[in-house]
Amino acid sequence: MSAEKTNQSWGGRFSEPVDAFVARFTASVDFDKRLYRHDIMGSIAHATMLEQAGVLSAAERDAIIDGLTQIQGEIEAGQFDWRVDLEDVHMNIEARLTDRIGITGKKLHTGRSRNDQVATDIRLWLRDEIDTILGEITRLQQGLLAQAEQHAEVIMPGFTHLQTAQPVSFGHHLLAWFEMLSRDHERLVDCRTRVNRMPLGSAALAGTTYPIQREITCRLLGFEAIGGNSLDGVSDRDFAIEFCAAASLAMMHLSRFSEELVLWTSAQFNFIELPDRFCTGSSIMPQKKNPDVPELVRGKSGRVFGALMGLLTLMKGQPLAYNKDNQEDKEPLFDAADTLRDSLRAFADMVPAIKPRIEVMREAARRGFSTATDLADYLVRKGLPFRDCHEIVGHAVKYGVQSGKDLAEMSLDELRQFSGQITDDVFAVLTLEGSVNARDHIGGTAPNQVRAAVARGKELLAAR
Ligand code: ARG
Repeated sequence: MSAEKTNQSWGGRFSEPVDAFVARFTASVDFDKRLYRHDIMGSIAHATMLEQAGVLSAAERDAIIDGLTQIQGEIEAGQFDWRVDLEDVHMNIEARLTDRIGITGKKLHTGRSRNDQVATDIRLWLRDEIDTILGEITRLQQGLLAQAEQHAEVIMPGFTHLQTAQPVSFGHHLLAWFEMLSRDHERLVDCRTRVNRMPLGSAALAGTTYPIQREITCRLLGFEAIGGNSLDGVSDRDFAIEFCAAASLAMMHLSRFSEELVLWTSAQFNFIELPDRFCTGSSIMPQKKNPDVPELVRGKSGRVFGALMGLLTLMKGQPLAYNKDNQEDKEPLFDAADTLRDSLRAFADMVPAIKPRIEVMREAARRGFSTATDLADYLVRKGLPFRDCHEIVGHAVKYGVQSGKDLAEMSLDELRQFSGQITDDVFAVLTLEGSVNARDHIGGTAPNQVRAAVARGKELLAAR
């Protein structure tokens, strides 16, 4: 029987080679080879433990570790020959180890199965990815804090229903994104604790007859805890689903943020300028400068939501314990992690370079009766019930629409048509600064509150 077609690792009970197409169809090496570093890390820890447990001699352990280290070097130098007939990353590396060090290489798999091996590899890999992603979230948040601090006093219209609602500080608006990203960070930190539990030692499904010492591999690999059930350890992928759920929420936030950047860079809003390096032109319309990075991030959010749905569906029908279905966990998970990491990276690079068009924002805030609520609140302070004030201001706005004047542009006599309670102290209330400064409480848009929020944000990041 040719070793070409029937994998030597399990070929013993087979009487004909695997069909060539089936071999390709069932192989995962094309995508799981990116787990090589974590696979080798897991194998080195396993071999180290086997020696301490008296299963391998010190010389065997050393030969294995040395061989694996050299293989890592071959892979990183691009000199490793990945073979589809060897199915996956695990068997490619093991076969190469045996090539290099002879039969000792075959002892590495003692007390282990690819089932606990792959579950271990994915967790180790995802743990590293989460750490990189957390770093990118922090970098993006630093950019938001810097912008918010610099632009605490810049006034823009705040929107509800995409209609001008009330003036807000541009810094305050940016800090809304900071808050969302803080929760994304929290979620991923929390998810990491459940990713960081060790399935190694579960073997195929029931554990192993060798005197393994899981505390040793747990410590060597930096896991926080040992998985308490071998069947669960090899089969569930809830940690990957949880990651995709947290990643989906983060992408949803980035997608909403993208939508605002797309609107704000349009000629119609013209609120901000994005540097050319984050935009591209059109091949036919010479005037165009398109906000490609935010548009792409908005579009890419769909892939991550898709990964979440894919993984939930992957798991929902599986009986215990490991099933080959689980090989399908990797591509969506890899793609979700890549997409989130790269989207965050693009945003972290881009956000510090956003330039607000301060005068345009201010002008937009001046239009649209954004201080109407302030006039109503002013009348409340003069003793009228809020509902009556709402009605009075409604009449004033109607008059403003007809006469083409904003509230602050009306004379005192014009305003007094609507209520005799209005006196010349009203104009301080109708200015944009007056409106924004009046919202002076934790979480409000007054510039001094924005600066306080920036200070809290800096403390939060410093404590990470
Ligand atoms: N390539 C497999 C996977 O990704 C490794 C585990 C295979 N185990 C097995 N019993 N066929 O899930």
